[in-house]
Amino acid sequence: MLDKLNEIKKAALESLSFINDQAALEVWRVANVGRSSPLMQVFAEFGKLSKEQRPVIGAAANRVKVALESALEVKAQAVKNAALAKSLEEEKLDVTLPGRIVNIGRLHPSTQQLRHVLFILAEMGFQVYTSREVETDEYNFQLLNFPPHHPARDMQDSFYIEADPSTGSGRSEDNSILMRTHTSPGQIHAMREASATNPQNPPPIRIALPGMCFRYEQITARSEIQFNQVEGLAVGEGITFADLKGTLTDFVRRMFGAGARLRFRASYFPFTEPSAEVDVECFVCGGVGCQVCKNSGWLEILGCGMVHPTVLQNGGYDPRRYTGFAFGMGPERQLMLKNKINDIRYFWGNDVRFLEQF
Ligand code: PHE
Repeated sequence: MLDKLNEIKKAALESLSFINDQAALEVWRVANVGRSSPLMQVFAEFGKLSKEQRPVIGAAANRVKVALESALEVKAQAVKNAALAKSLEEEKLDVTLPGRIVNIGRLHPSTQQLRHVLFILAEMGFQVYTSREVETDEYNFQLLNFPPHHPARDMQDSFYIEADPSTGSGRSEDNSILMRTHTSPGQIHAMREASATNPQNPPPIRIALPGMCFRYEQITARSEIQFNQVEGLAVGEGITFADLKGTLTDFVRRMFGAGARLRFRASYFPFTEPSAEVDVECFVCGGVGCQVCKNSGWLEILGCGMVHPTVLQNGGYDPRRYTGFAFGMGPERQLMLKNKINDIRYFWGNDVRFLEQF
């Protein structure tokens, strides 16, 4: 019996020495220390042994069992280590490889400038009001006091959309639909919305209207078919031209620096009376005269004026009681002046070499 146990141990350890993976190790475990292994068979046959033999064989069998089990444990650890070493070898990372460069996106320069303008206006108490890009002739022109034959209403200057489904095609005189040519129609939308809440006592308004405008232009270095505008509108009781001048002077200083000089020049818009344009002293030459300011020393940056009584009326505000001012400016134009960009086509040309500079 002792010989048999020695045989079992020898054979088991020998076969264990050839094993080098987890699956084979499990097979070995079942075959050599499992319930129906030869070793366990020895324990099962204990009953057949004589009283004297039992403790001797028992002790020997136990020693074999302990020896096999600890050999199994050692082997299991070795198999595990080998597997780890193998996977580390196979999945080797070269931490010295340079990483791939991730291109970080950014806002379009027009959007950046637009937001800059809105940020300043917000600090001054103007709330953003977004209005539609597709407008009716009525809102874009008629309600803003454009005379019926104003050149801006011509097919050559505005993008008309096939307007009236009921008439089939083309534009009918009063009902046509077009891409807004300026942000000013938003004035009417905002005033009507506000005055509808309380027609007897419409609330005061102080808003900024940002967004894309469209004109049917030949695309050249100086003109594009689309551009952004930011419009400002203030309506209330007792608002005067002095408020307009103060507001825009403050705006220009926040935008172009505390020392920026500006001037108001009389102008004309159908929807403001009186109207003006604002120039800032040329920040390229300091007012001496250069190519950018065409030797005038001044750069025109916005149009403005007191809201025309007819426009107030059209918005639901009684012009005998209410007054207001409005102004409109172009973020792209500001960027062009600020950065001496001499071709407006860069803005929608999508050339990253241009866009990446902002
Ligand atoms: N809408 C005018 C334009 O597009 C700008 C403007 C806005 C002028 C508000 C006066 C008041 O040129």
